[in-house]
Amino acid sequence: MVDVLLGLQWGDEGKGKIVDYLAARYDIIARFQGGPNAGHTLYVKGQKVVLRTIPSGVFQENKLNLIGNGVVIDPVTLKEEIENLNAIGVSLSDNLFISHKAHLILPTHRALDAASEHAKGTEKIGSTLKGIGPAYMDKTGRNGLRVGDILAKDWKARYEKLKQKHLSMLAMYSEQVDWESWEPAFFEAVAYLQSLNIVNGEYWLNEQIKAGKKVLAEGAQGSMLDVDYGTYPFVTSSNTITAGVCTGLGIAPSAIGDVFGITKAYCTRVGSGPFPTELHDEVGEALRVAGSEFGAVTKRPRRCGWIDLVALKYTIMLSGVTRLIVTKADVMDGFETIKAATAYKIGDEVTKEMPFDICEADIEAQYESFKGWAPVKTSECTTLESLPEAFKNFCSFLEDYLEVKIQYVSNGTGRDNLLKLF
Ligand code: GDP
Ligand code: IMO
Ligand code: MG
Repeated sequence: MVDVLLGLQWGDEGKGKIVDYLAARYDIIARFQGGPNAGHTLYVKGQKVVLRTIPSGVFQENKLNLIGNGVVIDPVTLKEEIENLNAIGVSLSDNLFISHKAHLILPTHRALDAASEHAKGTEKIGSTLKGIGPAYMDKTGRNGLRVGDILAKDWKARYEKLKQKHLSMLAMYSEQVDWESWEPAFFEAVAYLQSLNIVNGEYWLNEQIKAGKKVLAEGAQGSMLDVDYGTYPFVTSSNTITAGVCTGLGIAPSAIGDVFGITKAYCTRVGSGPFPTELHDEVGEALRVAGSEFGAVTKRPRRCGWIDLVALKYTIMLSGVTRLIVTKADVMDGFETIKAATAYKIGDEVTKEMPFDICEADIEAQYESFKGWAPVKTSECTTLESLPEAFKNFCSFLEDYLEVKIQYVSNGTGRDNLLKLF
């Protein structure tokens, strides 16, 4: 059986921390999409670690980790990540497996990402510039190179062929980066990647499932960044919802069990694009400060706003979420009033559905207000009973609106800052 854990907003919901906790009860943790645009933060014995391509189960003993075919891999970032983990005593030689069908991010993919973003000017996506979009374009355009290609005798020729194609594309752009200086590190990392456990991921995983192993599929980014259902074109280039687990790992829909959906108690977004509940005032700034809302990868300040139940209900529907997890409850501790968007007003219309033209529509979010729980701090609560009534009321409202029960509330960065509600 494969359970799924994914973000329900625009990413950075706290997936790394929750996977690290939940991993204890699984045998295998698998990434199914995205790439080094992800930054999943965990605190292990007080030490901060940010994972990019490697599943967040690596700090639990005796787990196997799979990077599935749906992931795009930058060998340079992957090597760096493994070396950093080795340096803190985490060995991955026996427990990290990589699908040979996962696509590769080349230095020229990163150059194309930078050139394309630059050309968009004020309409830029706000990409992490890790080469994600161009790599997925080559995948669907049927030009891509996969991990299995690095084992071929003519690997260098395959690389040169794709590089030449990229160079002709780069010639169309004014923005040029020094990708050539990235090539030596790339080839060094490819040589390193050749020595890792490259497997036929879909057979490998299905055999494990048949043998009764429990799998947790770890999402990257968030559902509102999904290439089909997110705020297109301000999205990433993969399917971040539950459906992506099947194609990204090679498992049947019938293998999917529980779906854990994560939301912050408020909302953030990094990069451009619509964000109906964004706060441009001192409240937004207070959320950014209280929540330390700066990108784990790019260090950019994250845009902050109230929780958006219209968007959440949509993403819960898309992924069939069976258990909700609310993170960063402690960030709301000092606020006198807390709001949740329950509808969008667009012109004279009020709707609870995500509009097709969300990027053009002038949306005014409509809110329900809740009394805060200061001076009580959820960060100091260690039992369910000790949680403040006002916080419980807020949670009940979310559960009624979203029609899913909250199973966990996270009230701090550590593995143990977690309260189980059922
Ligand atoms: P991910 O991409 O979904 O794994 O999330 P990130 O790691 O990018 O961002 C989440 C940030 O919130 C990280 O810095 C976490 O350490 C932090 N975090 C996670 N859960 C909590 C929580 O309950 N409270 C607080 N204060 N911080 C949290
Ligand atoms: P995790 O897994 C937050 C955003 C970028 C940009 C858009 C496209 O840590 O939650 P891309 O690099 O994919 O071309 O960028 O998507 N984005 C994320 N935002 N968390 C992430 O990952 C993100 N990965 C991409 O900021 O707006
Ligand atoms: Mg992140």
